[in-house]
Amino acid sequence: MAELLAPVVRRHLLSIGDLEREDVERILDTATSLARSLGREVKRLPTLRGRTVINVFYESSTRTLASFELAAKRLSADTMSIRSDGSSVEKGESLKDTALTLAAYGPDVIVIRHPSIGAAQLVSRLTDAHVVNAGDGKHQHPTQALLDLYAMREALGRLDGLHVAVVGDVQHSRVARSLVQALALVGARATLVGPPTLLPPGIEALGCAVSTDIGAISDADVVYALRMQRERMAPGEAFLPSLREYTALYGITPERVRAGQVVMHPGPMNRGVEIDPRVADSAVALVTDQVRAGLVVRMAVLYDVVAQRPVREREPVAGERERSDASPVLTGTPDAA
Ligand code: CP
Repeated sequence: MAELLAPVVRRHLLSIGDLEREDVERILDTATSLARSLGREVKRLPTLRGRTVINVFYESSTRTLASFELAAKRLSADTMSIRSDGSSVEKGESLKDTALTLAAYGPDVIVIRHPSIGAAQLVSRLTDAHVVNAGDGKHQHPTQALLDLYAMREALGRLDGLHVAVVGDVQHSRVARSLVQALALVGARATLVGPPTLLPPGIEALGCAVSTDIGAISDADVVYALRMQRERMAPGEAFLPSLREYTALYGITPERVRAGQVVMHPGPMNRGVEIDPRVADSAVALVTDQVRAGLVVRMAVLYDVVAQRPVREREPVAGERERSDASPVLTGTPDAA
């Protein structure tokens, strides 16, 4: 019986598939509390003071790396970022030896992006750190899915019952896989839309509809354009007759977006390929909101993995009950250090 009542321990964030709906809602609610704190003049919180967050990126990144670094700093953690370019990876050091080397510094959290599926899981087995998957090959990008849910909830006021059309290169997309799973968890539904060559067989098993007809987006509340991931297409692989033809058939243009829809894109965008610049720069595009959401959601994730237990089970500290924004993340005063 005591075992049944034990709090769930979430040491890592490796895949959306490891989460329950309550985990997603807790992280999004924590992010909402954190967003309020960022409106203050002094933005730094003492939440992770004395903790160390190491970001290890074996693939290029602007949004994910920048936001994890800033998130750690906003929570007062010590943080450092290592890119494989310029590191001993270039001398042939294996992922295992890099992980063991970094683990010797005693980090509380390792955030890792790697082109190989399962890299984050491997690091979680090799080290005592909490590991956050910042993207492993075409498998998972869980914090992208969480920030997307956050941006949708902010823009549309709900997640339950939403219909999201995810359009484009599903074949190579960890974003699509994570997002479809996350939408199912919160009671939303997804339709994957694209040319047959970019829709992997059996993808419906994730719990989504699939269509090769761009007209399928008309029923959606959210049109989510995926990046055409040319770097994941091996030389000689012909997924498309041409990018021009792809754009003509599946590009998100003003003509294809109906009134009331919002448009999202994880970035970086190939303007003029999967998304028309007139859409990307319009009021219906949530792209900048997604980037902004990335900071507070990644702050929430860092907090969540370190806290190791559901937020609701933490005992309130003195005075906390009286606070109107009584999130455990916001205990203490903002840190001017
Ligand atoms: N969406 C995303 O992961 O962007 P970056 O590659 O810039 O981190």
